[in-house]
Amino acid sequence: MKVTHDIKYIGVNDRNIDLFEGQYIVPNGMAYNSYAIIDEKIAIMDSVDAAFGLEWLGNIEKTLGSAKPDYLIVQHMEPDHSASIDIFMKTYPEAVIVSTSKSFVMIKQFFGTEYEDRRIIVDEGDTLDLGKHSLTFVTAPMVHWPEVMVTYDKTDKVLFSADAFGKFGAWDTDEDWACEARRYYFGIVGKYGIQAKKLLDKAAGLDIEIICPLHGPVLSENLGYYIGLYNTWTTYGVESEGTVIAYTSVYGNTRKAAEMLKEKLLEKGCKKVALNDLARCDMAEAVEDAFRYGKLILATTTYNSDVFPFMREFINELHERGYKNRKIGLVENGSWAPTAANVMKKKLADFKNIELAETVVTIKSALTDENIAQLDKLAEEMK
Ligand code: FEO
Repeated sequence: MKVTHDIKYIGVNDRNIDLFEGQYIVPNGMAYNSYAIIDEKIAIMDSVDAAFGLEWLGNIEKTLGSAKPDYLIVQHMEPDHSASIDIFMKTYPEAVIVSTSKSFVMIKQFFGTEYEDRRIIVDEGDTLDLGKHSLTFVTAPMVHWPEVMVTYDKTDKVLFSADAFGKFGAWDTDEDWACEARRYYFGIVGKYGIQAKKLLDKAAGLDIEIICPLHGPVLSENLGYYIGLYNTWTTYGVESEGTVIAYTSVYGNTRKAAEMLKEKLLEKGCKKVALNDLARCDMAEAVEDAFRYGKLILATTTYNSDVFPFMREFINELHERGYKNRKIGLVENGSWAPTAANVMKKKLADFKNIELAETVVTIKSALTDENIAQLDKLAEEMK
């Protein structure tokens, strides 16, 4: 598969995976991307997950014919990209690893050797000449591990972007890019918005025509669209107008309130309402929605003097990722001592730049006329 005349795709598709990184459902599988830059010297960009090492080596052989790679450029040491380093180094005993010093520490941890005689340590701004192609390395710490670097090929104007601009889904999946790229970004890299923005700022100074990420499709058209979304995501900006309702419900009464709230919001002109039952939906999808829209309503039951477990988990997920700059409304339910709203307020106290809606809806077991009026008031504030 050709990316440019000299750059070929040699990655693999994983359609057997149950959970990516042990937690994310990936209904359309996952791609572990790798690329060969074929010049006077040949560089391979990253390896692949352990289960696909042989298939990847087969792709290298098919692509290079009788030629052999000179360099393995390791941009990221998470095992979805690094697990086949060892098998590569055994297959190509002349090859040299090019990576950051932090990566070599991890290489030793994973493989018991730092390949002292077969390595080139690079740092910010260092270059590697392959012939026609000159590669420049740009460090990208915490996008998404500390050792990460990305690579710019100024000859073909290609940015090899590591995990940035990646998405869930096998390489050839025909689906909306933003949906699975957003779920991927906020799930995996979201905590590191500041660091990801720094990378975008560095990349802004480069003339880029193609982005080659480690997951998902190669991006070669309309790059402004993808970079624009990444600018919004990494700065915790609001991407779409609308309100998210995230709820838990034990016997259906809080669900009824959430559904009624949705209708009221739409009646009042809210552009889009995303309704997520936290016990049943994909948590990563609910997290993605919360970051996508500007307003969020949390509706839950009081449970063991706290909130219902799925809501606790959801608020934790938002907190871990630095959720901020949003308006939040609260709905609580409790049959004898409803305290969920106060518990949520305490949990939200150390979130940055959160405005709480004035109206708090307190349901005691089932909805009353008074509750319906409160929901109307809350919808007015959150539309
Ligand atoms: Fe795709 Fe952070 O590994």
